[in-house]
Amino acid sequence: MEDKVELGKSHLMVSALGIGTWAWGDRSYWGYGKDYTFADIQAAFSVSIKMGVNFFDTAEAYGGGLSEKIIGELISNNHKDLIIASKFMPYPWRLQRANFRQALRSSLERLRLKQIHLYQIHWPFPPIPIETWVDSLADAYLDGLCLAIGVSNLNAEQVERALSVLSRRGVPLATNQVPYNLLNRKIERNGVMKICQDNQIQIIAYSPLAQGILTGKYNLTNPPKGIRKFIYKSKLLERSSELISSLKSIGEKYGGKTPSQVALNWSICKGTIPIAGVKNQHQAEENCGSLYWKLSKEDISLLDRISADIQE
Ligand SMILES: NC(=O)c1ccc[n+]([C@@H]2O[C@H](COP(=O)([O-])OP(=O)(O)OC[C@H]3O[C@@H](n4cnc5c(N)ncnc54)[C@H](OP(=O)(O)O)[C@@H]3O)[C@@H](O)[C@H]2O)c1
Repeated sequence: MEDKVELGKSHLMVSALGIGTWAWGDRSYWGYGKDYTFADIQAAFSVSIKMGVNFFDTAEAYGGGLSEKIIGELISNNHKDLIIASKFMPYPWRLQRANFRQALRSSLERLRLKQIHLYQIHWPFPPIPIETWVDSLADAYLDGLCLAIGVSNLNAEQVERALSVLSRRGVPLATNQVPYNLLNRKIERNGVMKICQDNQIQIIAYSPLAQGILTGKYNLTNPPKGIRKFIYKSKLLERSSELISSLKSIGEKYGGKTPSQVALNWSICKGTIPIAGVKNQHQAEENCGSLYWKLSKEDISLLDRISADIQE
């Protein structure tokens, strides 16, 4: 397996697995401060780097900016070699290009960086058309405030529109960050994967563990706590049980890899960069065990077949 992967045509080389940091500082959805603290995150961060990860994804919206602040603190003394991705949120009250520039400057301040490596538009929310924000991304790139630009949650038609803006500016689109895991393979069917592959846009796979389901630790009698309990319809947990069993038995063939490690390796084998969310050292260590080995073609096909039957 490739040691490092280029983010599109950006020349930025990242590990095949990234770490997602939505939970770093987020109290309402993930419960930061209750079952995990800054010390847990610090340990997760250190072990991830030790095990070969150099790519961390955050956003101004995560924890109301706290995720970026935590990363800023973690990288302040050294670790200048890491690749940090953040995102601009097109809140409906943000109507001016100046709002974009202000948001970017605030992110830079929280991250204690002069340049963000990868800056992304978080969602294609109205009322401002995607073209305006993508054009602002191009400005930021040409002004040296970020080293590569990306989008997130764009469908194929929106990617096409972003590309047409960027081709006029001569700026490459490095990434599209979208949901992708064994329980959600919509991008394979709706044209997103194809348009990204055709244009050398790297897909960053978010929620690669289906927010914990693919770890195998949740089931009908042990559903996740908090908001996820209501989002995960019992059907999803029911549907995933055969898949979890297969992840376990496949993992055994590779020296005892866990369901999480097999699920993340499957995403890597599909040419995406999964960004797994972690809350502590144990989760980070386990997920980093998805690096430096590869599922066989037969096992990928087997997982494809089992997961095809349980797609929404
Ligand atoms: N662009 C977007 O719109 C968007 C949307 C969503 C996410 N993202 C990005 O993608 C990242 C990852 O997605 P995600 O956080 O939604 O979901 P995920 O990576 O599929 O799942 C993360 C959660 O699963 C559990 N977990 C992870 N590894 C584990 C392990 N080895 N053993 C046991 N439990 C484990 C943890 O929660 P528990 O311990 O509480 O179960 C963790 O917070 C985010 O952090 C964010 O950077 C982007």
